[in-house]
Amino acid sequence: MKKLKIGKVELSNNILLAPMAGITDLPLRVLAKKGGAGLVYTEMVSAKAIVNHNEKTKKLLKISNIEKPVAVQIFGSDAYSMAEAAKIVRDSGADIVDINLGCPARKITKAGAGIKLSANSSLVTKILETVVKSADIPVTIKIRIGLLPGQNIASDIVKIAQNSGISMVAVHARPASQGHSGYPDLESFGDACSQAKIPIIANGGIIDEETAASFLKVQNCSGIMIGRGAIGNYSIFTRLWNFFNNNQRLPFPSKKDRTEWLRQHVECSMEHYGEMKGLLVMRKFFHYYVKDFHDAAKIRKMFNTILTISDFNGLMKLIQL
Ligand SMILES: Cc1cc2nc3c(=O)[nH]c(=O)nc-3n(C[C@H](O)[C@H](O)[C@H](O)COP(=O)(O)O)c2cc1C
Repeated sequence: MKKLKIGKVELSNNILLAPMAGITDLPLRVLAKKGGAGLVYTEMVSAKAIVNHNEKTKKLLKISNIEKPVAVQIFGSDAYSMAEAAKIVRDSGADIVDINLGCPARKITKAGAGIKLSANSSLVTKILETVVKSADIPVTIKIRIGLLPGQNIASDIVKIAQNSGISMVAVHARPASQGHSGYPDLESFGDACSQAKIPIIANGGIIDEETAASFLKVQNCSGIMIGRGAIGNYSIFTRLWNFFNNNQRLPFPSKKDRTEWLRQHVECSMEHYGEMKGLLVMRKFFHYYVKDFHDAAKIRKMFNTILTISDFNGLMKLIQL
């Protein structure tokens, strides 16, 4: 494994946290960074909402110095607003602007964005060229391997990307029809990598040393990107870097370690959103921390009733965490 350079941005390694809507908010990105992520991504943000200075969107663009370097992911289907959004994103502290060309969610595709956009090569070319020209920071893209099993659209998009000045392509190697489940298509991913002159990053189902190795064996694969496997398991970045560079398998974090991550997550979440909202937001994350704990469902139910930090501390004492 080698440290990755994306345009002029040098990373401490080549293991990235994937963008995830509703998940990779500032608190989670800070934790992933502390766990060793080489680059963290915001969730996707609408280019139009950025340009319109939408209040909710401003919160999504808040960046902390601790998490840098950070990539802000934008989505849209209009070259002008995406180029303007890229400038705003840069001015709000992003080191990299990433364009979403892979999201299959209806609310994104119906506006011609995400994977819908990737099917329109002339518009993709126009958008990528325009954003690269205006951004003045490295521009990357995240794509799907294809729409249906066995289909490979990634190879063509990689060619367009490198001709348009894109600095790196992350490939979610599951076809869109598979959503977020099932095995990645390593063969098509290999084809996409084979001709690439820019870094290609692998994504899809990486949860441990073995799943990471299956991608890293692919010739020309420059690094890996981890999504759900990193939630509540932030040291996965350090563990994988150690495994592939020092041949050392570090243990999976203990319950005590994960409880410590949980406490930090609650603290960061309250700092970012305020006490009550911070705890409400934590409800969607809590199960990642306690899923293999005895009585996990019961603990989760209890967590879902708490609204203050003293309730949280009381719960931690009660369940002796
Ligand atoms: C809840 C959730 C939200 C996601 N949001 C985004 C997003 O905003 N932008 C994006 O490019 N991909 C998004 N993805 C896809 C992930 O970045 C990643 O490609 C996918 O989870 C596969 O990686 P994994 O198997 O390591 O989780 C999302 C995935 C999930 C599960």
